[in-house]
Amino acid sequence: MKIIKNNFKGIKEAAEILTVNGVVAFPTETVYGLGANAFSQEAVTKVYKIKRRPTYNPLIIHVSSYQMAREYGVFNESADELARTYWPGPLTIIVKKKKSNVVDLATAKLETIALRCPSNIIARNLIGELDKPIAAPSANKSGKLTCTSPGDVFAKLENSIDALIDGGDAELGLESTVVDCSVQSPCILRPGNITVDQINSCLGYVIAPSFQTVKQVKSPGQQLKHYSPDAKLILNQNKPNKGDIFLSFGPHPKEIDGLTLTESENLEEAAKNLFTFLHILDRLSQARGGTPIKVASIPSNGVGAAINDRLLRASEK
Ligand code: TXA
Ligand code: MG
Repeated sequence: MKIIKNNFKGIKEAAEILTVNGVVAFPTETVYGLGANAFSQEAVTKVYKIKRRPTYNPLIIHVSSYQMAREYGVFNESADELARTYWPGPLTIIVKKKKSNVVDLATAKLETIALRCPSNIIARNLIGELDKPIAAPSANKSGKLTCTSPGDVFAKLENSIDALIDGGDAELGLESTVVDCSVQSPCILRPGNITVDQINSCLGYVIAPSFQTVKQVKSPGQQLKHYSPDAKLILNQNKPNKGDIFLSFGPHPKEIDGLTLTESENLEEAAKNLFTFLHILDRLSQARGGTPIKVASIPSNGVGAAINDRLLRASEK
């Protein structure tokens, strides 16, 4: 695997690899993506194989502008409102798919398509240079911990991808909010940095947060078990004992091993650190023969809802 620098030459080189059906890990503001030319059956097939992802689970199609997105999906009033308000940014919008060169495999042969215009400039320049949309799931093996730093992508995927663009740590740290606008009443399929309240105030009405209540979820990739470290996670632990591995929220207790997601109880900071710290503590757990990781309870307001969603899925075995 080649590590590519984040500069003009690097983006050109990465786009060339994508053009010849290679797979390139690249930064976005949320998490690292595993990118393929969305028009290439061969490249998209590679992505599913590398991730060991079931082919019924569709990928997000990344575009560099709202105008580009409209070539691939039908934007109704709510989708239009959301795109104009939150793009470029950490929001994925599901709409009815238009007939296009995006290969059917990338959208799991559905009649809908998930579109996202990232704010990360490296990601947008890469799409611009390729001059085609990029199909990209998060850069991790299916069901495993998401990667938010180039080091974690390298550690987990070094032998299976063609290149990695080093864009430093992801700014936000959690996958995009996914809103399904292809149905009569839009609903949130995956919570993220753009909160339920923000979506509601943008649309002017309260929409169903289906991720919280419905077990039979519509997003094929949102089965309960997900984002899993090798270690067992035990949630809502506020009194760790000596010898425990503890992921805390607020000041870290003295003489307890582990890390705090945020000293100052800042939920955005906790979101940014979540996956990086889980990777670190997972390694510590393995070194100790599989000690579980205890996790403090996290407030569920704002982006806390998305953090708790990831932790709940990560703790399922
Ligand atoms: O922040 C992100 O969204 C990152 C970066 C790389 O953009 N990508 C990401 O992709 O998290 P992935 O594949 O890990 O998650 C995409 C989610 C999956 O749960 C998938 O099932 C859902 O979006 N999805 C994609 N297309 C869909 C569709 N047409 N209908 C319903 N769900 C869809
Ligand atoms: Mg993922």
